[in-house]
Amino acid sequence: MKGKLGIITGALDENSIAWKAALKAHEQGGRFVLTNAPIAMRMGAIKELAEQCNTIVIPADATSLEDIEKLYIEAREYLGGNFDFLLHSIGMSPNIRKGRSYGDLNYEWAAKSYDVSSVSFHKMMQVAEKMDAMNEWGSILGLSYIAAQRVYPFYTDMADAKALLESIARGYGYRYGKLKKVRVNTISQSPTKTTAGTGIGGFDTFYNFADSMSPLGNASAEACADYIITMFSDLTRMVTMQNLFHDGGYSNTGISEDIMNKFMDL
Ligand SMILES: NC(=O)c1ccc[n+]([C@@H]2O[C@H](COP(=O)([O-])OP(=O)(O)OC[C@H]3O[C@@H](n4cnc5c(N)ncnc54)[C@H](O)[C@@H]3O)[C@@H](O)[C@H]2O)c1
Repeated sequence: MKGKLGIITGALDENSIAWKAALKAHEQGGRFVLTNAPIAMRMGAIKELAEQCNTIVIPADATSLEDIEKLYIEAREYLGGNFDFLLHSIGMSPNIRKGRSYGDLNYEWAAKSYDVSSVSFHKMMQVAEKMDAMNEWGSILGLSYIAAQRVYPFYTDMADAKALLESIARGYGYRYGKLKKVRVNTISQSPTKTTAGTGIGGFDTFYNFADSMSPLGNASAEACADYIITMFSDLTRMVTMQNLFHDGGYSNTGISEDIMNKFMDL
């Protein structure tokens, strides 16, 4: 990461995946700007992270093209160059927050879920392309969840948002690869105890279930940060347009002995 410049979105508090990724990127010699929605800024924690990483925070709502443009202009000025890495670590569903089931979605809120959690990924790349803000062989990452492929009933409209996010990674990955050798991928992470994660109904149950299913157990936020840094490094330059499972083996496990044992006495 030495000499690499970038932007890290989504660090809300010390549990956030982006928080761990920022600490790791800093430790590995990367330089970056932190950003989050103006409302998240009021909670203040991100400023402590900025101090630890010797950087600044630039507020930006990831659904606003103007905010993204301003973010890139200020970040380029502060860092003194174009970006080698962008981390999109953003997710939010008003339907989940307000406990609406998949058969009772508020469609305005669903549109907000898609805009915040998926379309913002496209917006970040489209603005970067128009401003020519990425360096050649740069790496762009989003964070996904296996509900994009399989049904997790409580994940409701976020499942559709993640399917869209992964599709955008393929679509833009092709385009940015051709244009500038920039790679675009999503990391599909295990359930993780963060604000976004624990907001989902039944989280503790499917956290424990996934842990029992995975031969390596659930991947922690720290382990996810390691994978993020790996994907930002030059060692993964030919990986693009992929959804990469980072889940301790969960996605390829049909059943585990642990789960079987739980049903033994029934
Ligand atoms: N926690 C899990 O179980 C889990 C599993 C797989 C994938 N993910 C994904 O990881 C990513 C990071 O989430 P997390 O688990 O670290 O939780 P988190 O709550 O710490 O992070 C979510 C972030 O999104 C930001 N955000 C919301 N609306 C925004 C907007 N309009 N503009 C800019 N930022 C905005 C929030 O302020 C917050 O910092 C999300 O995409 C999430 O879906 C999480």
